[in-house]
Amino acid sequence: MEQTLHNLKNQALAQIISAESLEELKNIRVSYLGRKGQINKVTEELKNLGTDERKALGRLLNDTKQALEDALTNRIQELTHAKRQEWLDPTVPGIEPERGHLHLVTQAIEEISRIFEKIGFTRVRYPEVEWDWFAFESLNMPKEHPARDEWETFFVDAPENKKWGKIVLTPHTSSGQVREMMRLKKPPIRMINIAKCYRRQSDVTHNPMFHQFEGLVVDKGINITHLKGTIDHFAKSFYGPTAISRIRPFHFMFTEPSFEVDFSCIHCNGKGCRFCKSGWHEVGGAGMVQPNVLKAGGIDPKEYSGFAFGWGVERAQLLKPGIELDDIRTLYSTDLRYLKQF
Ligand code: FA5
Repeated sequence: MEQTLHNLKNQALAQIISAESLEELKNIRVSYLGRKGQINKVTEELKNLGTDERKALGRLLNDTKQALEDALTNRIQELTHAKRQEWLDPTVPGIEPERGHLHLVTQAIEEISRIFEKIGFTRVRYPEVEWDWFAFESLNMPKEHPARDEWETFFVDAPENKKWGKIVLTPHTSSGQVREMMRLKKPPIRMINIAKCYRRQSDVTHNPMFHQFEGLVVDKGINITHLKGTIDHFAKSFYGPTAISRIRPFHFMFTEPSFEVDFSCIHCNGKGCRFCKSGWHEVGGAGMVQPNVLKAGGIDPKEYSGFAFGWGVERAQLLKPGIELDDIRTLYSTDLRYLKQF
């Protein structure tokens, strides 16, 4: 009986070692260790043996089963590892992962930052969730003033602060003007504040979340020609050397005088076409900083003057040739067919 077991064990080990597939190993396991397998047949003989012999053979049976299980496990591992090595053939040409790119708005923000950095502006960032005081009151717009309505503001449902007022989602980057004056304490100031803004607006030309870039320059002897020169520098750097700008009288509480700023249409060089109709595109507002705003920032308006402008990033970017978009909201859709084009 012992001899039969030894023979079975050697025979099974030889088959396991030379097996070439997992399927073959499965068959070997069934043939030797299965319920009706060859080892179990030997087990049936145990009942015909005396106690001592039965104990000795029982031990041998267990050892044999264990040896076969170990051999099977090793061979399974060898075969699986070999299979994996085959799969990792380094000579097979690789699959190049898809390359992403920056979102159109991020590209515009980076370009705008570079254009203003070249003429000495420092990029700053101020809170998107802001106090009413910075968004309105410090900008010469007292509580309840009807001019505030134009900003269609989102108010945060939170307790009001005695000094700073309610909490708002900042509706324009002008909220950074007095913050910058307070940070620097003393002119010269040359800031470019690019940030997200929020308004209760949604249509083909308005997004509830959009970006503005706000310029603020405060120093001795700053006048409108500095403002116009800065606007022209931006127009030519962003749209190309043929672009020109114009300012039209307007009204903002925080600038005096105030203007709306237009850039000539790059498609028709200002002649008038289906994109612009008039030859011009409006991008935002500008003006000379109102003395009360300088005072709110701790700056003496008798000694210093300044200009400011605030334009829409999306609006400015969409005027570039090649970006023809009927609805500004498409910029923030997740439609890759559109986004992949830029
Ligand atoms: C302002 O927000 C002033 N703070 C601009 C300013 C700054 C004036 C400094 C003077 C001095 P206005 O509300 O017009 O102004 O917005 C400026 C520009 O932001 C708009 O011309 C437009 O380009 C962009 N804009 C405003 N609302 C939206 C919106 N909902 N979606 C997309 N762009 C918008």
